[in-house]
Amino acid sequence: MEGIKVESASYSYDNGYTAVDNVSLEVKKGENLAIIGQNGAGKTTLVKMFNGLLRPQKGKIYVDNEDVSTMTVAQISRKVGYVFQNPGDQIFNPTVYDEIAYTPRYFKMEEKQVDAQVRSAAELCNIVGYLKLNPYDLPFSLRKFVTIASVIAMGTEHIILDEPTAGQDLFGLRQQKKIINALIGRGKTVITITHDMEFVADNFSRVVVMADKKIIADRTKREVFWDFEILEKSSIKQLYVSMLAKELGIPNHVISIDEFIDEVNRK
Ligand SMILES: Nc1ncnc2c1ncn2[C@@H]1O[C@H](COP(=O)(O)OP(=O)(O)OP(=O)(O)O)[C@@H](O)[C@H]1O
Ligand SMILES: [Mg+2]
Repeated sequence: MEGIKVESASYSYDNGYTAVDNVSLEVKKGENLAIIGQNGAGKTTLVKMFNGLLRPQKGKIYVDNEDVSTMTVAQISRKVGYVFQNPGDQIFNPTVYDEIAYTPRYFKMEEKQVDAQVRSAAELCNIVGYLKLNPYDLPFSLRKFVTIASVIAMGTEHIILDEPTAGQDLFGLRQQKKIINALIGRGKTVITITHDMEFVADNFSRVVVMADKKIIADRTKREVFWDFEILEKSSIKQLYVSMLAKELGIPNHVISIDEFIDEVNRK
């Protein structure tokens, strides 16, 4: 299967703390899904194993049918791009341009091709006007787009976005929706970790829920947002519109304003 396959993977940090315990997951190439769950559930630890930043002590990770334990981080980075949760862990170049150009240059692309990759990624992320600036002179919300553009410019088939919605206003969230849709349109796999449940409801169908080191659900968003046991276990707040529908005794499992209005009009 082309895509990412996790087989009973566990990861413990050097201090002995187990952050991911016996997790299995399959994401096919071209799929779009969200990973959600409480702080410390193990989401970041899990996805860092997809691109070799962390190596599982138990279990296996396959990318496009290749066992990543046999690959170097450089080899995996041609296949899986990871946008760090904290831009400060990722950005190290003096200008936005150099930051985005770093991996294409590392891959020894010709400078003309590098430039095309940088401009195309910067356009998609709406940061063309900042290319000459130092990334650290930009606010956090824009810095996040710099890191997203850097990963897009790598040209990998699988892309992981770790908390792209943190600190974003409505404009930023809309831009992210555009980016995700464009990537899906190009046939890319997009895995997004987020705490923004409205964003999940707007953009994803498949939702993977993590709680306490494990995946506790891998379902449709409608199933997840109406399963009170899952919501409770993973400390996820139900969507307001769903809460309201429940309070009003609407029997259908509403997860959007449009659906809510349809239900009210039908009464
Ligand atoms: N370098 C580390 N050393 C020891 N423990 C760590 C390390 N990094 C993370 N952890 C612990 O592992 C657990 C899982 O962390 P992880 O970052 O994967 O969670 P998360 O689901 O991404 O949380 P958040 O939503 O807050 O980003 C947490 O309890 C965290 O404190
Ligand atoms: Mg995290």
